[in-house]
Amino acid sequence: MPILKKIAVLTSGGDAPGMNAAVRAVTRGALAKGWEVFGVRNGYAGLVADTIDPLAAREVGGIIQRGGTMLGSARSPEFKEASGRAAALRNLANRDIDALVVIGGNGSQTGSAVLQREGFAVVGIASTIDNDLYGTDVSIGSDTAVNITLEAIDRLRTTASSHQRAFAVETMGRDCGYIALMAGIAGGAEVIALPEQELAPAEVAERLRAAYRRGKTHALAVIAEGARCGVKELMEHYASARDSIGFELRVTRLGHVVRGGAPTAADRVLATRLGAAAVECLARGELGVLLGISCGEIGTTSLAEVAGRTRPANAELLELARVMAM
Ligand code: F6P
Repeated sequence: MPILKKIAVLTSGGDAPGMNAAVRAVTRGALAKGWEVFGVRNGYAGLVADTIDPLAAREVGGIIQRGGTMLGSARSPEFKEASGRAAALRNLANRDIDALVVIGGNGSQTGSAVLQREGFAVVGIASTIDNDLYGTDVSIGSDTAVNITLEAIDRLRTTASSHQRAFAVETMGRDCGYIALMAGIAGGAEVIALPEQELAPAEVAERLRAAYRRGKTHALAVIAEGARCGVKELMEHYASARDSIGFELRVTRLGHVVRGGAPTAADRVLATRLGAAAVECLARGELGVLLGISCGEIGTTSLAEVAGRTRPANAELLELARVMAM
């Protein structure tokens, strides 16, 4: 079993609400073991640029409720190069840092797997609003992102209903429609479009038309940004088919609004559990793994297995949403 004295922690990729709570949990969990903790600024870019500073218990105080990441985050092309990684390893060695905790999503954990393969001890913590990380049922930030999207849907429904309109709401989710799927079901959407299941603009329009014919006062389409039928395609189709749809159509793109704001209680608790578990993992010498949640329990998956894989949203739930929209 390795005797650890110094660890570093970084947040990488798209920021996610709850990352701060995870940084706090890693820091305090490690300090409680008598280890020194370093915070790396701006993800892997900070490892390469050597912006690595000690973190004390008070420095992670008052952040559990804050969205974003106090450490900063980045998507670092330098780290993908062998020369960038060599600089990162040198900077870690110069401070006698024994292990690194990486809080992030797919790209970030692929980076973790490479570092581990090159001989440096790494443990990953699952964090991405998209919730598409292989090796965990739920990632830090996704619950908040779903709830922000849901709040927007609820607000849009109010005005949609007053004006007998249809609204198409685009939420984040580049390759995975988890946020759109969950918020769409919770928000009672008439149509949900995901990257995982193709839906032509004409079909979206047909479902809106059907809702109009059934006497609905409004209709909502929730669309993941990565869906083939995006809001642009839908508006183009609508321009030619407007008369037959019944409703007027308006579009709202939520964009990065979905990533901001305070983390929900669920994300704070998840981040705290995973952060503390990452420290325990390092303490028992279980290295090169991703910390995630499986059936409610904390579990580990080898980073080599996680790297380059994704977990799609459960598109079977689309049928449930369709029946409920009757
Ligand atoms: O991976 C999280 C995510 O928010 C995706 O949903 C979105 O497509 C992407 O990041 C946006 O990336 P950026 O903030 O770099 O524009």
